[in-house]
Amino acid sequence: MKITVFGGAGFLGSHVCDKLSDAGHDVFIYDIVPSPWLRSNQTMIVGDILDEESVYQATAGAGAVFNFAGIADIGDANVRPVDTVKHNILTNAIVLEACRLHSVGRYVFASSVYVYSKSGGFYRSSKQACEQYIENYHEAYGLKYTILRYGSLYGPRADGKNAIYRFVKEAMETGSITYYGTPDALREYIHVEDAALSSVEVLKDLYANQNIVLTGSQPMTVRNVFNMIAEMLGKKVEFVFKNDFSNTHYMITPYSFSPRLGRKMIPPVQIDLGQGVLHIIEAIHHEMNPELQNFSGLLVKDQP
Ligand SMILES: NC(=O)c1ccc[n+]([C@@H]2O[C@H](COP(=O)([O-])OP(=O)(O)OC[C@H]3O[C@@H](n4cnc5c(N)ncnc54)[C@H](O)[C@@H]3O)[C@@H](O)[C@H]2O)c1
Repeated sequence: MKITVFGGAGFLGSHVCDKLSDAGHDVFIYDIVPSPWLRSNQTMIVGDILDEESVYQATAGAGAVFNFAGIADIGDANVRPVDTVKHNILTNAIVLEACRLHSVGRYVFASSVYVYSKSGGFYRSSKQACEQYIENYHEAYGLKYTILRYGSLYGPRADGKNAIYRFVKEAMETGSITYYGTPDALREYIHVEDAALSSVEVLKDLYANQNIVLTGSQPMTVRNVFNMIAEMLGKKVEFVFKNDFSNTHYMITPYSFSPRLGRKMIPPVQIDLGQGVLHIIEAIHHEMNPELQNFSGLLVKDQP
């Protein structure tokens, strides 16, 4: 079926596009920038999601629509509150309206576990508002939806704002990691490819009109994540913990009272956190040493 993916050029969206194509769908990526990960069997539409006419056209004939576009970083959202309304809330309404007009079979939205939390500032508020609009569209017009509340993602294609990527890169480049928050903060990191596979799985009827929680299954304190990185690198890494005065990140759990509970979805096969971090170490090592080539499993400067 035709599936339009808004924000499909980004970190999470691009992985979901890969999995949708693998599952045999006809993927149309709509993003303000061309996707560096575009496959030959995918169609790229470069456009602004605030452009209602262009969103309407991109949605025509789609059996399902995914929306990953917007401001994804909590820090960015907190210094750009008005832009966050525009890029997260207004864009969601524009895509919902296009889905309604075209009678799209399912609207899948990238939300966050922060909707449960008292932390997360304007980012959290924008996701809560989006979720309520989606539920309102379902009640008013019968538009089927699935809300995916993702936890902390990591893995290939992440940029410097991604927590695990930044920890590994800092440790490798400077020998220290600075963290704004407490060492006991608990996280359940989920590998982006596991999250992407589950995001495709939710197209099944079973997940229609559901709020699904997608986090990892290995809770770990930030201190232990750092210890693991240091052990893998085989060197002493200094950990610097500073106060998070902005209080934007949760400590032990994002969960506080929320009127609409979600069901937690656990992927049947998962990438272990250690394996996932090892791949990031390899990728950053390659970025830092582009002259090294793999020769029979050994990294060498010039192949003999
Ligand atoms: N990365 C995480 O750990 C995480 C966790 C929970 C939820 N999420 C949610 O998942 C979604 C995707 O996150 P991500 O990490 O892949 O972010 P990302 O920044 O990599 O991807 C967002 C994409 O949206 C596009 N975009 C932004 N504004 C646009 C516009 N006006 N028109 C068209 N395209 C536009 C960007 O070009 C980018 O490709 C976001 O909604 C985010 O809140 C991410």
